[in-house]
Amino acid sequence: MKKYLAMALAAIMILAVALPVLAANNEKPVIFFNRQPSNSQTGELDMEALTFNDKTYYVGFDAKQGAELQGEMIVNYLKGKGAELDRNGDGIIGYVLCIGDVGHNDSIARTRGARKALGTAIPDGTQGKTEIATIDDVDSQPIGVNTDGSAAHVQDGKITIADKEYVVRELASQEMKNSAGATWDAATAGNTIGIWVADFGDQIDVVVSNNDGMGMAIFNAWSKDAGVPTFGYDANSDAVAAIADGYCGTISQNADVQAYLTLRTLRNALDGVDIMVGISTPDAAGNVLSDDLYYYDEATRCFYALNGAVTADNYESFLDATAPNPKFNNQLSEADAPVKKVWLDIFNSTDNFLNATYLPQLKNYDGILNLDVEYVSGDGQNEGAIVNKLQTSVDDVEGYAINMVKTDNAAAYTSVLE
Ligand code: BGC
Ligand code: CA
Repeated sequence: MKKYLAMALAAIMILAVALPVLAANNEKPVIFFNRQPSNSQTGELDMEALTFNDKTYYVGFDAKQGAELQGEMIVNYLKGKGAELDRNGDGIIGYVLCIGDVGHNDSIARTRGARKALGTAIPDGTQGKTEIATIDDVDSQPIGVNTDGSAAHVQDGKITIADKEYVVRELASQEMKNSAGATWDAATAGNTIGIWVADFGDQIDVVVSNNDGMGMAIFNAWSKDAGVPTFGYDANSDAVAAIADGYCGTISQNADVQAYLTLRTLRNALDGVDIMVGISTPDAAGNVLSDDLYYYDEATRCFYALNGAVTADNYESFLDATAPNPKFNNQLSEADAPVKKVWLDIFNSTDNFLNATYLPQLKNYDGILNLDVEYVSGDGQNEGAIVNKLQTSVDDVEGYAINMVKTDNAAAYTSVLE
């Protein structure tokens, strides 16, 4: 009997040595990316989620800097034009605005940035604002149709083009959400422009979109042929290529930097090394990010990539949005960084930016960082379905990268780890 007991014990000990000891799920690294844990009404950061454990971070980009840049890019373009910009000669430069998701910080910032730059912004009364110091103070509500300039959430602005002063009017804006509930929906934008054009097409002089997915849907459906300046955001490859055909500009949110940071922070947290290795300081393979590409806010544990404008002047160097960046594309050795399994979700399998640009960028860097990533995706609306997928894999992987459907829903994921 004793002998069997000893044999059994020995077997258990061998097993214990052979099997890697995984941390408890709630001690594993958690990286939120692209959709920042925050209150979708107020934008306030969800610090409970961001401090879930000491290996929790957010990776995104500077929404405000990008939104200001987009506004500037649009105004610079318009100021360089002549009287032909006012297509119907009514003295009004009319624009339509595609809003991605009314409860998403990135979308809110872009609506604010465009309105502030175009002079159509009013202070955000729901936040108790009475004046506009920065774009954060701007009302970001959609207005529906405003061809008569009477909408409550915007005002008419002014712009001088070729020595003539014009009124600037937001003719229409709406959240582009499909009937099933998916936001930033390109198909909805493509349909909506048809309705707007039928209604007041001759008044539309400019199209502004919170992203390229919606912007390109409109460009292809109407504005390319109509010759109406159209602006987006993301610098997806198809949008950058379209600059050669008259798409007027987009903003690169440096998806390469974000994808690398998403996986890099996971890698560093898994290895228990300083979180800035391979980020602010080179790693053993020479990977490093220069300061002009990102910043880190230690207090909120958030990494932000910076944005750059992509226009007719520089688009040729942005044509491949999926190319890896040679400055941080060096293979880690397996001795330093043994292969680890991690889980990552893309919240919407049809989101243009995430699937055409971000996901290929993640796949550039997973291998060099020796991460064996289980990629899953959702349908853009059903958070429960993604959480179920997390539940299925939660014990088998060593870290999680989470792209939420709703930015208020971090607890739905972290509760699976408890
Ligand atoms: C991108 C959008 C995208 C969204 C998804 C944003 O940062 O600009 O194109 O739809 O992320 O969360
Ligand atoms: Ca006009």
